[in-house]
Amino acid sequence: LSLVGRGAGFVAVAASGLVSWRAVEQGVFSSGSGPAYSAWEEWQTNPSQPLDLVRAAVLAANAHDTQPWLFRASPDRIDLYAVLSRNIGAIDPLRREMYVSLGCALENLVLAAAAAGRPTLVQLLPDPGDSIHAARVQLGSGPRQVSALYQAIPDRHTNRGPYDTGRSVSSSVLTKMRDLIVEQDVALVWWTSTDDRKRFADLTVRGAQAIANDSEQSADDFRWWRGTWSAVQSNKDGVTIDASGLPPVIRALGKMLPGQTRDSYEQGFISSLRDTELPTASALGTIVVRDALNNVQRMAAGRAYERMQLWATASGLAMQPLNQAVERADHERQAGLQQSFGSELAELMPESWMRPVMPFRLGYPTVQGLPSPRMSAEDVTLPALRPT
Ligand SMILES: Cc1cc2nc3c(=O)[nH]c(=O)nc-3n(C[C@H](O)[C@H](O)[C@H](O)COP(=O)(O)O)c2cc1C
Repeated sequence: LSLVGRGAGFVAVAASGLVSWRAVEQGVFSSGSGPAYSAWEEWQTNPSQPLDLVRAAVLAANAHDTQPWLFRASPDRIDLYAVLSRNIGAIDPLRREMYVSLGCALENLVLAAAAAGRPTLVQLLPDPGDSIHAARVQLGSGPRQVSALYQAIPDRHTNRGPYDTGRSVSSSVLTKMRDLIVEQDVALVWWTSTDDRKRFADLTVRGAQAIANDSEQSADDFRWWRGTWSAVQSNKDGVTIDASGLPPVIRALGKMLPGQTRDSYEQGFISSLRDTELPTASALGTIVVRDALNNVQRMAAGRAYERMQLWATASGLAMQPLNQAVERADHERQAGLQQSFGSELAELMPESWMRPVMPFRLGYPTVQGLPSPRMSAEDVTLPALRPT
């Protein structure tokens, strides 16, 4: 070999070494493993202790994977608290998504308690003067009731990939999902007409664009982006490449390339919404409540969403919330601006009492949804209060 040839060989070996090093460092081969994902393993199919019930609760859907919760577990009671510092700031200025997220966690908790033979009595906002104390769950004792919804908890993942455009969701599925909602002041709206679907899709893309153009909202959005493997593992929260729904090769490339800027993040987000998520949705709909500022109704909506997504998971369906238009409506309301997104959303409501709090899409998946990071039950559970 000539010296030049040897030199080129050395450079090639060194470069491939660097590439492999970067691949390992960025977790290209490690999706779903490490401390940030161990909560999915610690899940127990046979819960018995109150802490096991929290293990189920922390796996629930929650806005931006902020996990805005704290639990206090006692032998006969679990209290749930909102953690305001884990709010998404300007993206959720009215804390709507925060309370919907707490409701999602409650639903998993109640399903796990039933599976453990601990029937529950749930009191939402037990102390009306204290909005931080979100719920008190009293645990009784009774026969174990292991439901299909409970068993779907570890398989439920928000799926942001393309849905199968060749397979529509039947109207009986839409009816069954509507029937899952038993909460007072909560209902489900399906946008089935071409015109409604188009209006919602346009509004959602415009919402995402408005968020990208709003420096405060886009900064608070980007704050939860975990672009490196070490950020994923140390924070155990936030939005990740693995949960993006991209095909494996693109995900690997995304991990290898230098970090995203806020602008590239927002632009990628808008194009996925406009070109993949909305056009491949089989069904579009929203959970509505009577009073969108009422935390009891928001938590009830969260329970309903989690139940629907667990049912969808058990039925081979995929779901993804799409909150951009409502996030803009909340922002307008908070900032005292003229309600533009708010009034367009109101026009999409079939009945005047309905306020949208959780729009989403539904369909048959073409790619598997991957888990998002989680703090463990131990990370978010306070010890029992001593009896006074
Ligand atoms: C109240 C609420 C709002 C959400 N809004 C969106 C959204 O607008 N777009 C999206 O892709 N996911 C949204 N999600 C899904 C969360 O990002 C997701 O639940 C979280 O990252 C955890 O991932 P997992 O559901 O796969 O466990 C939302 C979830 C909740 C509970």
